Amino acid sequence: DTKKMKTSLAIPVKKIAKSKLPEINFSNLAFGKVISDHMFVADYVNGEWTDLRIEPYASLQLDPANAALHYGQSIFEGMKAYKNEKGEILIFRGDANARRMNESAARMCMPEIPEEIFMEGLLQLVDLDRNWVPTGKGSSLYIRPFMFAMDNYIGVKPSDTYKFIIFTCPVGAYYSKPVNVKVETKWTRATEGGTGAAKTAGNYAASLYPALQAQKAGYDQLLWTDGKSHSKIEESGTMNVMFDINGTLVTAPTHTGTILKGITRDSVLQLAKDWGKPVEERFLTVSELVEAIENGTLKEAFGTGTAATIAHIAKINIEGKDYTMPSKGPEAFSHKVLAELDGIKYGEIEDPHHWIVKI
Ligand code: COI
Repeated sequence: DTKKMKTSLAIPVKKIAKSKLPEINFSNLAFGKVISDHMFVADYVNGEWTDLRIEPYASLQLDPANAALHYGQSIFEGMKAYKNEKGEILIFRGDANARRMNESAARMCMPEIPEEIFMEGLLQLVDLDRNWVPTGKGSSLYIRPFMFAMDNYIGVKPSDTYKFIIFTCPVGAYYSKPVNVKVETKWTRATEGGTGAAKTAGNYAASLYPALQAQKAGYDQLLWTDGKSHSKIEESGTMNVMFDINGTLVTAPTHTGTILKGITRDSVLQLAKDWGKPVEERFLTVSELVEAIENGTLKEAFGTGTAATIAHIAKINIEGKDYTMPSKGPEAFSHKVLAELDGIKYGEIEDPHHWIVKI
């Protein structure tokens, strides 16, 4: 039976008849294929979130006129829970995800989800499915909160009704090896005034075709540039990107509204500042990047993301030319920051910024 938690919200639970857990091979977890037993669901009707519940993970029934399917009012989040050796479960910065989801909601004309519903739904769901949280560095429980329109209406307007769901997946690494990226100078992910900062389905849909072209050419991901001049580096498809140039950490700023405000991005910048490492949130131009590679001031390039964690970039293709990144020595900042983040996430070291909630 589930451990009773001290919670402010009473969420009814309908348990699965037979857990799928015994069928799962935890030693070989592909990212995002295995889904845990239960999900948290809430419905937005008549201007309020109602019918909060935890129930067995199952298919949904949708009307063919469901507005989300047609016009894309759909937003999501990604976060992770970790299990330490004591069997405690640690959730990393869930409150930041709740806030970001509400920023996405505002941009997409969707209702806010109160942080209390988001957090309680998530904590009680993860507690119920706590045996699904893998142990061991590099593995975790990926948590996917999302919200979408539920009106059945074919006119273009914001929906009046919505569904909010959280489900979870035990996962291993998203990228199992260093990634090769290609700087994209033709296609655009986001432009100023668009939806680039929102974690909304359409941004990902729009990126699929250009990313597929790059994958066919042998690259894992694109390095997006700004939509106007294609001269400034923005982010990658599944992660923000950072460059260590002569000891200074450089990453794109978020004020243009074209960059996803990564929570791993923010955490890495915070740790760098804590350590006194110079940080510059500014656009790195493609030509500056080429220059830094050629004159040896580029020490390393890496991606940051919840799914991707800290992903070393091995190769960057710029205007048809492949540049191999310097091999990463043990002193690399990305090693240090990954170790620090893992230490915090698995509860092994102090958590000075109160990023962890334990259940
Ligand atoms: C994440 O890192 O959580 C993401 O949402 C990126 C990707 C899996 C879509």
